[in-house]
This record gives sequence, structure tokens and C-alpha cells, in this order.
Amino acid sequence: MALSGIFLMVFLVQHLAINLTSLIPDNGYTFNKISHFMGYNPVVQFILQPILMLGVCFHFTMGIFLEYQNRRARKSKYVFHKTRSSWISKNMILSGLVVLAFLALHFYDFWVPEMDYKYVSKLIPAEDRYYHELQEKFHNSTRTVIYCISFVLLGLHLNHGLASSFQSVGVTTSSQKKLKLIANIYSISIAIGFTVVAVFHYFSH
Ligand code: HEM
Repeated sequence: MALSGIFLMVFLVQHLAINLTSLIPDNGYTFNKISHFMGYNPVVQFILQPILMLGVCFHFTMGIFLEYQNRRARKSKYVFHKTRSSWISKNMILSGLVVLAFLALHFYDFWVPEMDYKYVSKLIPAEDRYYHELQEKFHNSTRTVIYCISFVLLGLHLNHGLASSFQSVGVTTSSQKKLKLIANIYSISIAIGFTVVAVFHYFSH
């Protein structure tokens, strides 16, 4: 669970980095170039993408399974006394399910049309299509709001997930405070970064 989480956190950094190139004022040139490379490079398409999909499926299947096991293991619900555990650490399954619902919408928005373009309709690769598709999606205010709410929950999920996954694999920093600081910087940067991309394209028409 922890290893797949760390793998997905690395993926998010590269995904955000690519998305941030869509903010460069070059009319989408850089973003289109990178997206085209990612979309047609055989190593990315036939090796990295299937590994990523397996990682995503493994992470949420294990998350749901472990939650089910935990609930079964305790006869009565926990009574939370004044513990130091935060709301988000007790509700990782909830934030995880919101991210999963977001992913379903996200795949419907971007991944499914791309698969259709390449493998079903078999259209000629038009290198300049990615930027326009991105802008078109975020012209819809409902979609932009749903995305931004999901990014807040993703940030909370990552905040607790990073600290706990590092502990699970035995990576301990000299102080708990340092790990918490790294988790805060990472999760806030990811949530704000994706939000900036969505909001930028919403207002750029
Ligand atoms: C503003 C925010 C985001 C934008 C604009 C965006 C955009 C995109 C685009 C254009 C694709 C490519 C589809 C394709 O050509 O195959 C994609 C794929 C994907 N996105 Fe996002 N994304 C965003 C946020 C996220 C977040 C927060 C997550 C995870 C929680 C995520 C997970 C994925 C996954 C797993 C894929 C499939 C990767 C693949 O095609 O290999 N995205 N996204």
C-alpha cells in the first residue's frame, strides 16, 4: 500500500510538471510537444502507462480491502478519546474515494477521448490538439469547480499519506516534525499547482 502510494506521488510530480508547461505563454507549443511525446512514445504508452494503471488499481483496491478488514476486526467502533490523530488520518478512505471518483471523471474527460482518437477512430496524429482540448475542458465552470474541490481532498489525502507511507517503509527522518514539514510542502504544492492549472485555463478564454 505504502509503496504504490509513493509510486503514485512520484507520478503526480511529473504530471503536474507537464501540466504547468501549459501556462507558458507560447500558445501551447511546449505543452503540445511534451503531450505528443508522452502520447506516442512506445515506452511510455506500452510500458509506463500499463504500470501506472496497475499501480492506481492496486492502490485503491488495497485501500478498500484494508478498510473492510479493519472494520471487521473491531467489534465496536473506535471511541476517539482526546488523541492526537487528525480528522484526515481517520478518514483516509473518504478522501481516497473522492479522489477515485475524480479519477473516473478525469479519465472520461481526457483519457477516454485520447484512446478513442488513437486506437478506435485512428485519426491522424495532430500535434497541436492537446492544448486546445485542455482549454476547452476548463471552459466549463461545473467541471472546474469539481476539479478544484477534488484537489483540496487530494491534498489532504497526500498530506497524511506521505508521512504514513514513509514511516511504513522504514524511512524515518531525525524528527517527526521534519517529515510533517516535507508532507506539508509536498501536499500543498500539488494541490495548489493543479488548482492553478485548472483556474488559469478557466479564465483564459
Ligand atoms: C488541472 C489538473 C489536471 C489536468 C489538466 C490533467 C490533464 C491530463 C491529461 C491531458 C491527461 C492525458 C490523457 C492522455 O492523453 O492519455 C491526463 C492523464 C491522467 N491524469 Fe491528469 N490532469 C490533472 C490532474 C490529475 C490528478 C490530480 C490526477 C491524480 C489524482 C491525475 C491523474 C491522471 C492519470 C492517472 C492519467 C492517465 C495517465 C496516462 O494517460 O498515462 N490527473 N491528465
